[in-house]
Amino acid sequence: MQDTQPQTIFLKDYQVPDYLIDRTDLTFDLDPQATLVKSRLQVRRNPAADASGDLPPLWLDGVDLELLSVAVDGELLPAQRYSEQTDGLLLTVDKESFVLEVQTRIAPESNTSLEGLYLSNGMYCTQCEAEGFRKITFYPDRPDVMSVFTTTIVAPATYPVLLSNGNKIDSGTTEDGRLCVTWEDPFAKPSYLFALVAGDLQFVEDHFTTSSGRKVTLQLFTEPKNIGKTAHAMESLKKSMKWDEEVYGREYDLDIFMIVAVDHFNMGAMENKGLNIFNSACVLASPETATDAAFQRIEAIVAHEYFHNWSGNRVTCRDWFQLSLKEGFTVFRDAEFSADMNSRGVKRIEDVTLLRTAQFAEDAGPMSHPVRPDSYMEISNFYTLTVYEKGAEVVRMIHRLLGAEAFRRGSDLYFERHDGCAVTCEDFVAAMEDANGADLTLFRRWYSQGGTPVLDVEDKYDAEAQEYHLTIRQHTPDTPGQTDKQPLHMPIAVSLLGADGRELSLDQEASIERVLHLTEATQTFTFADIPERPLPSLLRGFSAPVKLRYRYTSDQLLFLMQYDTDSFNRWDASQRLAFEALEQLQRAYRAGGEMQAPEALLQGLSAVLENTQLDPALVAKMLTLPSPQELAEHGDAIDAQAIVAARVFVRDSIAKALASRFLKRYQSLDQRKPYQPVAEDIAERSLKNTCLSYLCATGSADALALAESQFMRKENMTDVAAALAALIEFGPADQAEEHLESFYQQWQQDTQVVETWFGLQAGSANYGTLGRVRELMSHPAFEFTNPNKVRAVVGGFAMRNFAQFHQEDGTGYEFLAEQVIALDKLNPQIAARIVTPLTRWRKYRTLEAEQIRSALQRVSDSGELSRDLYEVVSKALE
Ligand code: ARG
Ligand code: ZN
Repeated sequence: MQDTQPQTIFLKDYQVPDYLIDRTDLTFDLDPQATLVKSRLQVRRNPAADASGDLPPLWLDGVDLELLSVAVDGELLPAQRYSEQTDGLLLTVDKESFVLEVQTRIAPESNTSLEGLYLSNGMYCTQCEAEGFRKITFYPDRPDVMSVFTTTIVAPATYPVLLSNGNKIDSGTTEDGRLCVTWEDPFAKPSYLFALVAGDLQFVEDHFTTSSGRKVTLQLFTEPKNIGKTAHAMESLKKSMKWDEEVYGREYDLDIFMIVAVDHFNMGAMENKGLNIFNSACVLASPETATDAAFQRIEAIVAHEYFHNWSGNRVTCRDWFQLSLKEGFTVFRDAEFSADMNSRGVKRIEDVTLLRTAQFAEDAGPMSHPVRPDSYMEISNFYTLTVYEKGAEVVRMIHRLLGAEAFRRGSDLYFERHDGCAVTCEDFVAAMEDANGADLTLFRRWYSQGGTPVLDVEDKYDAEAQEYHLTIRQHTPDTPGQTDKQPLHMPIAVSLLGADGRELSLDQEASIERVLHLTEATQTFTFADIPERPLPSLLRGFSAPVKLRYRYTSDQLLFLMQYDTDSFNRWDASQRLAFEALEQLQRAYRAGGEMQAPEALLQGLSAVLENTQLDPALVAKMLTLPSPQELAEHGDAIDAQAIVAARVFVRDSIAKALASRFLKRYQSLDQRKPYQPVAEDIAERSLKNTCLSYLCATGSADALALAESQFMRKENMTDVAAALAALIEFGPADQAEEHLESFYQQWQQDTQVVETWFGLQAGSANYGTLGRVRELMSHPAFEFTNPNKVRAVVGGFAMRNFAQFHQEDGTGYEFLAEQVIALDKLNPQIAARIVTPLTRWRKYRTLEAEQIRSALQRVSDSGELSRDLYEVVSKALE
């Protein structure tokens, strides 16, 4: 917590560090309340820094540390040579290079922020990105200071596993019987990639032989009770290592790669060099305990963290404004990996859904920022959908504009040029250009300009000239601190469909798709030799992260749903139809008029459901209505009740109209086979469970009996959780209670399943009332200091339970404010995230807007806020 108003840090103020650290030797003497940290730093004046005048003082970041001693070249430093400040230590320097030794004491047990060194279920672990290392020892905690590290850990024999980065070079026992291990990481790294783990852990081991024939040991560590849930992550790791060699030519570089599962973790996982630390929920799985979605998430995150070894660790960021350099690129890499391992089309649909729901909302909200922000108060607040997902879209557009081979030439040059360095987004773009003689001058605006571009498309067919013209106009709305946006360079993938539903060949070429380079505010593209008026399939594969408007008629959308060969656009046509219906129904609801069944949508979905040639996962996606959150992103002056009512009405219309088809499809897919988390089976389960949910939505006793039987059979968690969700959403309350209770009884020992159980209830529109959520928070398994539990219950309610959170009396908002205030005292990062729904108050109509704003004001008035929460709340109230 700060005592003065937090300062804003600007990219334009970047300066190279005055001093470099060539070696860092650390010793940890572990104790829950008094861990002793000794650091020995080889300090040298940075030759790249301004050399005029006297030697500047040395600044070392440090937060919540107890300073015990400071020595230079073996001599204790007198107090007048350094000054201790709330966020660091300033030393007077009298030589160009020296050895600095600092001793500090820290209390991991009292660290509930989960940054720095802390305890999780009795296990010591660290999280240093972005600025957690300064909670461990005094250090220039910035990514452009890269050092070789050795780490010695001393701990009681009750902590037999002692891990850090690199290779183990020594181990033994001290005179008083404690264990002592030393690790050495030969690759220079910034402090944010440091890690330490100590505990009574078990591990599984496997091996991977790299393409050049080196054998790498792979180890995955967990608490003993979870050791049976490691197989999927290990498989995913081996697949990732192979894929990165094949697709990017990147080999692993140490002899050992370790993963540790930790229950208390603020994010998904962390790419510490050679020692990745994972949120347990993002690494542990078994068929009985994890859903398909969890299996796929684990595969993606294991890959993501592994890929960081090159895109992040070998080549890292100069400063935190460049965060997307590693995160956007690595998300693009993991998305392509997942697309190769599973269904490419479905992966794209899932990623775009997230982007459109949450990133577009971020772009339009008070925290809106470009992929490379210009300023921040607290960098933890910028681990955002914009930096990660939109950043990945920007890299994807480069891939699309240059083509796969040219992109690979660019990435090869990037890794070769900058290996071992801390660089910028500009360096990435420059490598892509230089390797290919390409010009991305205009394209660079994607990094500096925020907001979601809107494209308006009009077309004209000239029968006489046999020409088809597409006119595209782009504009990007103002965002906080950024007005008068410039046009962007983006690829627009287009096909033209003939009356028979087939793509026309374009420009006398064999190709049926053309990638238009849009660079101007308004631009017209002409297609020659077009024999008939075509129907355009625009922005195929979502080739740019924009909102595209074109006046499709319902019939045209039905046509695209039937014929488009681009599975993304086929799905998108169904979504456009659904949006149209839902928006019309919201208007009817608000006007107090009658709600009419959405005939075109019903007709389209009925055909899709009949089509057994289509990928069942795609069918399931087409049958899934846009979420209330996505509808809210679309609208303004939102009436939350109207969104809920319209969506329930459409859902029930579909359920009723297609009931017999749902039953037929459910039965044909309900084949008992041994569980495997492979694309084909996942696809079948997703359609089967989509059918089940619609069947139960009718409330029919037969349908609920099907769900009950699926629940009782306990074949795998995907089917069990889907059945349970349907039962609590649509079944009688007393039975729901029984099922929830029996589920809990069976799984109470399994942390991940208990999290699922919490999330199902808190996120249920029917069951997850505010009263229920409060009960869950006093359940013995709930832990306010565990982010996963908080996300499941408080997040499940505020972020995934639109209907209950937006109850008209405003109590949902008040509840969230109360939780945010309490959380901020324990874990500022989590508080600053979970407050998000309250920061979007401007989107709502007057009634809700006032209620939400006053809840936010209450947070603001509650006393001293953390820097994290202060930044988010003050920007939202501006
Ligand atoms: N670099 C990590 C990842 O993308 C994220 C860790 C960020 N942690 C944080 N507390 N901000 O995989
Ligand atoms: Zn990452």
